Amino acid sequence: MTAPRKIVSDVFSIGAIDWDRRLFDELIPLPDGTSYNAYLVRGDETALIDTVDPPFWPVLMRNLERLGAIPDYVIANHAEQDHSGSLPAVVEKYPEIKVVCTPRCQVLLEDHLHIPEDRVVTVEDGEALNLGKKTLEFHHIPWAHWPETMATYLKEDRILFPCDFFGSHMATSDLFADPKIIYEPAKRYYAEIMMPFRSLAKKNTEKVAALDVNMIAPSHGPIYSDPSFIMAAYQDWTSDSVKNEVVIPYVSMHGSTRIMVDYFVDALVERGIGVRRFDLTMTDLGKLAEALVDAATIVVGACTVLTGPHPKAADAVFVANALRPKARFVSIIGSYGWGTKIVEVLQGMITRMDVEVIEPVLAKGLPRDGDFEALDRLADEILERHRGLGIA
Ligand code: FEO
Repeated sequence: MTAPRKIVSDVFSIGAIDWDRRLFDELIPLPDGTSYNAYLVRGDETALIDTVDPPFWPVLMRNLERLGAIPDYVIANHAEQDHSGSLPAVVEKYPEIKVVCTPRCQVLLEDHLHIPEDRVVTVEDGEALNLGKKTLEFHHIPWAHWPETMATYLKEDRILFPCDFFGSHMATSDLFADPKIIYEPAKRYYAEIMMPFRSLAKKNTEKVAALDVNMIAPSHGPIYSDPSFIMAAYQDWTSDSVKNEVVIPYVSMHGSTRIMVDYFVDALVERGIGVRRFDLTMTDLGKLAEALVDAATIVVGACTVLTGPHPKAADAVFVANALRPKARFVSIIGSYGWGTKIVEVLQGMITRMDVEVIEPVLAKGLPRDGDFEALDRLADEILERHRGLGIA
């Protein structure tokens, strides 16, 4: 259970902490659990901002009851079930309550949760709702990370409630974020959820930065009492600038590809290039995603299975392509037994990334001197490209 906590006068955090969840979307590892934050704002009328994942509805309901709150409005910033999944229970418990959301969200709430249209009030970008003593302003921030998303701004207290945007999967009893602790979970969350929409995340960051925000209260993870930290981080992550780093996700069946990766890592380090290396048999997908946020180059290490890439390498490339990192260069290294089509297959999978493919290095069997020389040449090529960007 999670008790209600006061943020400022007449504004409370009343959501739930999910300490034990270890997987989101049956895909994303949650090493630190997560939370489904919901907030209560009291003026003459009362608004609930977002709800919780359905199994945690009893927690939210108990918190509303503890505060003696009968909300007049429930603001649905985002239709996804971890925030709106308890809406059916909310509209059933409070027959007079109105759901407030964007027009696109109304359609999604009807589709996903069967919320009747007559229980919903849609709001346009910039529209306000006066609760009496408290005013909520609604700012559409599309594709953060669904098409319908919006942020709610509490004008009198200058608190922004952006739902997933600026969030982090982190179960903690701390109401407010410690920048030293939250940086990595927030970056990982950005990589997994927002990075595929980087240019829109950049625009949305600029949009909310123009508001006079004193505090950011997302719907996952702790609240930012000083929003400058997470705003600066988002400005950095969404920018076009890349780092002098190579991310190497790899898999090796009998050790030959691993020997190539070992050699190649040294070759890059000798040239002053940072390396983030991931053995795909044991990699935490979130760590790999986070590494992809700002590296200039990705080199996939893949052995060959039945002429194609090992499925773990194909899986990593599929995920990287879906996440659309801002890397500028890609290459492939790896060993094969007697024949291979891994370059054609993997290159064919990179459809959403705007990258230059640098000549791959493939070794037949155990790598020989000529293969190591080719790896040195690949490291030289990468150094040259990074110098061209002014980052090496
Ligand atoms: Fe936290 Fe997109 O839901």
